[in-house]
Amino acid sequence: MTVTPLGNPRRLLEFTIDGEPARVPEGSTVLDACRAGGKDIPTLCQGDTLRPKNACRVCVVEVAGSRTLVPACSRRAEPGMEVRTDTERARHSRRIVLELLASSVDLSTTPKAAEWIKEYGAKPDRFGPDAARLNEEPKVDNELYVRDYDKCILCYQCVDACGNQWQNTFAISVAGRGFDARIAVEHDAALTDSACVYCGNCIEVCPTGALSFRSEFAMRAAGTWDASKQSRRPRSARTAEWAATSRSTCRTMRS
Ligand code: FES
Repeated sequence: MTVTPLGNPRRLLEFTIDGEPARVPEGSTVLDACRAGGKDIPTLCQGDTLRPKNACRVCVVEVAGSRTLVPACSRRAEPGMEVRTDTERARHSRRIVLELLASSVDLSTTPKAAEWIKEYGAKPDRFGPDAARLNEEPKVDNELYVRDYDKCILCYQCVDACGNQWQNTFAISVAGRGFDARIAVEHDAALTDSACVYCGNCIEVCPTGALSFRSEFAMRAAGTWDASKQSRRPRSARTAEWAATSRSTCRTMRS
């Protein structure tokens, strides 16, 4: 029998969300509390196994006493907080973020993007058709992965997953500045000439499909991709498998 050690007990914090009482363990974010209360806050750059990056700002909410809107994904819940998730100011901000993103990036494979665009009344085409699109062909330079820069929102989740938060390979990073910023391997080389070990972590965390497996890319191109036929193993199984692989890799490296 596997025994899972209990963590330290955490104090429960009490505050309100949209006027309703909320209680979450200390250390939870406002987003955790909103989700626990069944509120659907849009998120793009947030990953439940990565530290918040605060890159997209689509998750903003209002907090009484705060001059600016706050990102729900990174703001820790505090006792006595008064959070408002659906005010005109928060909705307006989310609408603008969605308009800016959708006018410059292809969100066609971003889950729920179309739903949010409709829900917030975003009109991406008011900036002109494909205002800042790269219109770059997807990069297919290896047998496993496809990099589609037209879909990249520069959320940095892939960089964090490849780097010190998951894989510790550091194969990818942000290159360039401003409009020229892009996720790249060293010297923008082909993936086959980089430090990439094809662990798949970057694809796992990519929220928009900018990084995808070649098999999925080929099926989408052929019109045979059916997301409803995909299954996902529970995280506990994946974690156990990862731990076993990691132990055996460590043993191999030591011997
Ligand atoms: S999801 Fe909160 S800033 Fe991106």
